[in-house]
Amino acid sequence: MLEKAEELKKTALDDLQGAANPAELNEWRVKYLGRKAGALTQLLRGISQVPVEERAAFGQAANELKNLLQAAYEAREEELSRPAVEMLKTIDVTLPGRPVSLGRLHLTTQTLREMYGIFAQMGFQVEEWPEVETDYLNFELLNMPPDHPARDMWDTFYVNPRVVLRTHTSPGQIRSMRRHCPDPIRVILPGKCYRYEAVTARSEFMFYQVEGLAVGRRITLADLKGTMIDFARQMFGADRQVRFRCSYFPFTEPSVEVDMDCIICRGEGCRVCKHTGWVEICGAGMVHPQVLTNGGYDPDVYSGFAFGMGPERIAMIKHNIDDIRLFYSNDVRFLGQFG
Ligand code: DAH
Repeated sequence: MLEKAEELKKTALDDLQGAANPAELNEWRVKYLGRKAGALTQLLRGISQVPVEERAAFGQAANELKNLLQAAYEAREEELSRPAVEMLKTIDVTLPGRPVSLGRLHLTTQTLREMYGIFAQMGFQVEEWPEVETDYLNFELLNMPPDHPARDMWDTFYVNPRVVLRTHTSPGQIRSMRRHCPDPIRVILPGKCYRYEAVTARSEFMFYQVEGLAVGRRITLADLKGTMIDFARQMFGADRQVRFRCSYFPFTEPSVEVDMDCIICRGEGCRVCKHTGWVEICGAGMVHPQVLTNGGYDPDVYSGFAFGMGPERIAMIKHNIDDIRLFYSNDVRFLGQFG
């Protein structure tokens, strides 16, 4: 009988090493230590066959075996649960969580909002008009009949022979005049514009413009100049200087180009201002009498000024960005730097 106990010990311990998970471990426990049909219980049942004088020794041996198997079982149980415990030890539950990266407004949106704020203080309201526009409004009513050479200034995406993707926000001038006539107007008209031209560091096929329009009874070039100076100083700093240069647009007379002293070199001359000391911020002028008429206003009674700005250009000057393509190529390394 003692040999049987010895044999049981050996197979039980061997078997125990083979138990690789809690379920197998439990099977082992039932098989060897189970109270009703476990191998140990069965061994003890055989005590009646042991000669009386050997029973005490057998009982003691069986008892020791039981304790030994019980201890081995517990040790194995501990061993199997250890990897989970070890893993828990490597996790520092007191560490702060990883910060969630927040989205932010696109640089163009930020710039547009800044512009709205500045013009709002001067009484300009925001109006929006369609991006898909008729040739009639985009060109004709702005004083450019079908064969007018000035149409060459804008390379156009045609939807069909009469419908275009607007090449500028200026058709909104006609739309706003027709909406408000005969009331005085002070509006800015932001939105996307499209040009069928090569994409370069200086020009995109899609970009924004902010059109400005003021119409009233005694509006002069001096009002335009004051508006431009105020805008430049609020956007770029209180000591900004502004100058007008003669220019030509079919829908304004006179027409000007508005320059501001370069914020990088303050007029000294640098790469950004191409060593002129000045950077162009927009085209502008007094609304052409024909355009006022097309909008419904009598040019003998009313006058007005208009301007067209590129918010990307404003942002490029402000943040010293040298390539407009960065705005719409969705590189978050660029976009994430603003705001
Ligand atoms: N529409 C012009 C362009 O896209 C910009 C412009 C110039 C707008 C003069 C105006 C203006 O309102 O008065 O090049």
